[in-house]
Amino acid sequence: MRVGLIGLGVMGWRIAANLASDGLLAAVYNRSRHKAEEFSRKYSVLAADTPQDLAERTDVIITMLSDDEAVLSIVGALREKMKGKVLIDMSTISPTTSVGLAQQIMAAGGLMYDAPVIGTSIAVERRQIVILVGGPQERLDLVKEVLSHTSNSVIYVGPNGYGLYAKLVNNLLLGAYVAAMAEAFNFGLKAGLDPRFLVDLLTKYSSARSPTAELKAPKMAQGDYSVQFAMKHMRKDLEIVQQEARRIRAPLPLSALALQLYRFAEGMGLSERDFSAILELFKRSA
Ligand SMILES: NC(=O)c1ccc[n+]([C@@H]2O[C@H](COP(=O)([O-])OP(=O)(O)OC[C@H]3O[C@@H](n4cnc5c(N)ncnc54)[C@H](OP(=O)(O)O)[C@@H]3O)[C@@H](O)[C@H]2O)c1
Repeated sequence: MRVGLIGLGVMGWRIAANLASDGLLAAVYNRSRHKAEEFSRKYSVLAADTPQDLAERTDVIITMLSDDEAVLSIVGALREKMKGKVLIDMSTISPTTSVGLAQQIMAAGGLMYDAPVIGTSIAVERRQIVILVGGPQERLDLVKEVLSHTSNSVIYVGPNGYGLYAKLVNNLLLGAYVAAMAEAFNFGLKAGLDPRFLVDLLTKYSSARSPTAELKAPKMAQGDYSVQFAMKHMRKDLEIVQQEARRIRAPLPLSALALQLYRFAEGMGLSERDFSAILELFKRSA
């Protein structure tokens, strides 16, 4: 089996590194070529010239891209090369877009799976990220085998689009939760509580403590917004939730408000920072 990966960003680079270390990766492609060349030098894996070139050299293609626009453009370029091949899209995009692309890939003689992830780059490095798979049963064993090199928790959710719906359930909650956490953190700071105590409160003593609080509370205390999950990606995910909710008629008051807050924070120049930087919106608003 020859695997190719397109999209060497924060997540894609690490997924590709796992596959390369296990000897499965035949080629990589990245829009900004310098990243593909750097990866090629480090892991001795071919840097393909184009997505089509990568498709010709591989049987299973993984995409890990930013958003709908990126996936539409790359999968559009791959479509005609997909006969007999499997595409695993790990990006978080709109389920409606993904289902449309899966139909096009099927018409071209291939199969597509949505396989978005829960967890950060650290979980990818530890091969412990959660992967939620949507797609046909047909090549599921192959998909699980490829993904097992990056995750000990590959969960089949249902037909095309279902992996993405499951991912959006998570990020709806995550987006609203971290915005609420920032509000609470700022309230504590303004009341004069020590930031180090606030970390202990949110991670050890609070009845609302969570793995997310363990990850984000220390970042908030230190003002360390180095990116684990970018603000722009959280805003994008909440926008997808809004679009899908209109279609399925689900009310979304809390995540709609959280989306507005992330947009304000992006307006303050925090788009490329970790989404925990939402705290700055509260700190600077008093
Ligand atoms: N980071 C996380 O913790 C995390 C966790 C869960 C899910 N996710 C999701 O995983 C996906 C990737 O996240 P990431 O953090 O790895 O993103 P990232 O670091 O921003 O990387 C994005 C990748 O997409 C490529 N790209 C963007 N626009 C493109 C276009 N129009 N055409 C072709 N390629 C394009 C970029 O290429 P260039 O190098 O040329 O810019 C880069 O390779 C996103 O959907 C995100 O929501 C991320």
